[in-house]
Amino acid sequence: MTEKQFISTVKYVASTKPAFLLSEIAVYLDDQKTVDQMYASLLPHLADLGLAAKKIGEDYEVSRLLPSPAYCLNAAEEQRVSEYLELRTIPPALEEAIGQYITRKTGKDWSDPVILERLRRAIVAQKDDYWKPTNKRSLQYTKGYSVLGYLAYHFPVYFMQTRQLFAELARDGLLKREMTILDLGTGPGVIPLAVADFWTCLGTARATVFPVERSKEHIEAFTHLVKSVATKDSLVTIKPALEADITSPGDVMLPEHVDLMIFSNVLNELAGLPVAARADIVMKYADRLAPDGTILVVEPAEEATSTSLRVLSLVLKKRGLSIYAPCTFVWGTNCTSDRCWSFQTAPSIRPTRIMNTLAACDEPFRYVNTDIKYSYVMLRKDGKTRSPCHLPKGTNAMRLSRIHLNVGRRITVVAAKMSEDLGDNETHMFRLCDGSAEKPVYGVLPVFHITQSNRDLVSAPYGAVLELRNVLVRYNPVHDAYNVLVSRNTQINTTGNRAV
Ligand SMILES: C[S@@+](CC[C@H](N)C(=O)[O-])C[C@H]1O[C@@H](n2cnc3c(N)ncnc32)[C@H](O)[C@@H]1O
Repeated sequence: MTEKQFISTVKYVASTKPAFLLSEIAVYLDDQKTVDQMYASLLPHLADLGLAAKKIGEDYEVSRLLPSPAYCLNAAEEQRVSEYLELRTIPPALEEAIGQYITRKTGKDWSDPVILERLRRAIVAQKDDYWKPTNKRSLQYTKGYSVLGYLAYHFPVYFMQTRQLFAELARDGLLKREMTILDLGTGPGVIPLAVADFWTCLGTARATVFPVERSKEHIEAFTHLVKSVATKDSLVTIKPALEADITSPGDVMLPEHVDLMIFSNVLNELAGLPVAARADIVMKYADRLAPDGTILVVEPAEEATSTSLRVLSLVLKKRGLSIYAPCTFVWGTNCTSDRCWSFQTAPSIRPTRIMNTLAACDEPFRYVNTDIKYSYVMLRKDGKTRSPCHLPKGTNAMRLSRIHLNVGRRITVVAAKMSEDLGDNETHMFRLCDGSAEKPVYGVLPVFHITQSNRDLVSAPYGAVLELRNVLVRYNPVHDAYNVLVSRNTQINTTGNRAV
């Protein structure tokens, strides 16, 4: 019996009863398999089949996977999350633990001038490497100082941006009362530590985090930081980091089902792999995603990395995952993603003590990293999207794919706001996308034209879907892009389900 027939048999039996033993399947099989062999064959398919397997004595009981209910924030938790997002510093215990780790690894206090100089050199080398084309980078994190530099420079910002993303997931009801989180390329544990931290805003939600990482140096830092900040009564369990190469998903020991799978600042490091190969890797992990689970991919906002995330997102969409956020496909089309540079920003963090100490030199700006700018995509298997866009009743909106035919005319468009303000003191400018445009489109609003009726362009959050009635189309040859000019006579309405 082939693997395919075996899976079909399991599927059939599962449809006839709520639970069964794997040994019961044996009678249907042509070739003899032990229950352990059957379990090994079934394991990669359990999440997709919506089944769970439990070891009972020498056998396995297979039953339907009961979805863990979504965790809905109550008013007190919503308040806590809002206050939490106001914070501008990483938790003091974590900052302390980073300093202690640098001190432990180097054998000298982290503020010793020799150590500071080495950290500066490591930070500069890492940044220089980052700006090289991906196939020329050597980001291996095999040397101690590359990880120490990462802790001093990148960690705080990545930790704080993860807060923003968890708040979005929580507010959108994508967290569960009990969930399994897989963090691929965990580094020194930004995501697991951010889970432990964010979950303190939630009253009763529980989470177990499975981190995977290839670099021994990062795993050592991860182990130190997790131990330093762990509390006994936490509802979050952080498993030891599994040392593995995430490009070989078959070799990575994974949990049966994953509710949230995170690739944070890692896919861009799979140097040399073409987008199709990166999509293969994500799809392989997606086999373990629970039917109502979410994949979160985050990348730095830098143009090449950010754009390549959008290209990857579209390939994953074509392979069957749905883009939950931030993109909205108003017309149900696929987009042209190769010029899509779209990222989110959040208020800057305050520099840590280590950053300030590093900055006490001739070129302070090189060692202070406080801006939060990131590109992300949330993907699902169940087709759910954040803004299930229903075109407003009676709209005569035009697809942005037809914008070139309307230069000089006034039209109506329905599109998502896909950037923060790119303008200046006199003019607001936001990138707009309806999922059909072939060239970038920007909504342009001179400050003196702002009215009650068009201010949603400015106040709506990143990703919100807007109807813009009566905008004038202009072509910008310098950027080979289109502008839609918003004036006093433009009416802008928020549509979809994203609150302004
Ligand atoms: C930029 S760090 C990101 C760490 C963390 N996720 C964050 O957001 O701060 C990228 C991490 O991915 C890890 N990584 C890169 N390629 C990997 C691979 N093929 N297998 C496992 N880990 C990998 C690196 O060692 C590094 O720790």
